[in-house]
Amino acid sequence: MQANLNESWMIGPVAIPSRLVLAPMAGVSVQAFRRQGRRFGAGLVCSEMVSCAGLHHGNERSLGYLRIASDERPLAVQIFGSEPALMVEAAVMVERAGADIVDINFGCPVRKVTRTGAGATLLDDPDLACRIVDSVATAVGVPVTVKMRRGLQNGSRTCLEVGPRLVDAGAQSLTLHPRSARQMYTGTADHSLTAELVERVDVPVVASGDITSRAKAQAVLATTGASAVMVGRAAQGNPWALREMIDGDAAQPSREEVAAELILFVREAVRELGERRAAGFLKKFYGWYLGQGRFPKPFKQELVQLDSTEEVVTRLLAAAPGAAEILDRLEAETAAGDEVTLELPISIYGGG
Ligand SMILES: Cc1cc2nc3c(=O)[nH]c(=O)nc-3n(C[C@H](O)[C@H](O)[C@H](O)COP(=O)(O)O)c2cc1C
Repeated sequence: MQANLNESWMIGPVAIPSRLVLAPMAGVSVQAFRRQGRRFGAGLVCSEMVSCAGLHHGNERSLGYLRIASDERPLAVQIFGSEPALMVEAAVMVERAGADIVDINFGCPVRKVTRTGAGATLLDDPDLACRIVDSVATAVGVPVTVKMRRGLQNGSRTCLEVGPRLVDAGAQSLTLHPRSARQMYTGTADHSLTAELVERVDVPVVASGDITSRAKAQAVLATTGASAVMVGRAAQGNPWALREMIDGDAAQPSREEVAAELILFVREAVRELGERRAAGFLKKFYGWYLGQGRFPKPFKQELVQLDSTEEVVTRLLAAAPGAAEILDRLEAETAAGDEVTLELPISIYGGG
């Protein structure tokens, strides 16, 4: 039987309307990305990893990740750190901000994070990892989940030993990206480990890594027994990939559709990050959206060189005039979800 992605499942008491989860990606998973992911079929979206030390110190950027729109939910906010007390404090803030799930990062392979004892390093210290999960799960009422790699070294099977212990400690779902930390993003994700993990735990497992099409998503669901697949890089600048996975609609978007989605994304990012931060943040998205033969290469290069996002919008509308009508419709549709659950007491947004 073919796995149906358009089916709901549960993490604890939280109903997830489809078996497609949008991956947390640092420098990518802003609110605009998450809301777009939900519109195109993701049943669950996740913030990028938020530093528990950053939240503890009231760092404005970290606090900014706790700004949740009503139409993003169900939403997980991911935290990272290595001290149980700080992780508890962060998790409580995340719950108060309105997140449906607190996700804990035991997968980040980046040195800046691992040298502090956080991220994937914790897979080599299962006692501490379990203490973190146990403390956080005791402190919050929402489900606590964990995202992890297979282990630190190539060929490692650590996740199979640590996974069940994390569940005993209180994790209500595990996401596995079955590459080693050392591999970073090279090689391929070995989902035979995902299948083994599913056998060993009685909570839902989410399969992350190299899910790029409906065929791949269905194959991984069917061969691993995972409850859902997670999509990361394939959705960058390409929400249509999510639509293809969910309902098999492989129609390529028109230029007008691409321009309209990108303009909406630009405007939302500016509202969230302020013009100065958004202008830099958005540059990588121009390539992601406009590549794949959708627009000529020089056009993308031209956009990257523009100073203001308003100029980018003007050029996009000039290149695809029909985008204006689609954009009006999109903005009307998404306006209702703009309301944020938590009004932060500080002015981080609008360039403040
Ligand atoms: C740019 C980038 C940033 C990422 N940041 C995070 C993160 O903050 N937290 C996390 O758990 N995983 C992070 N990941 C890993 C992804 O969530 C995902 O597990 C991985 O990319 C494999 O899935 P994919 O092949 O669908 O991209 C990141 C990946 C990328 C490419």
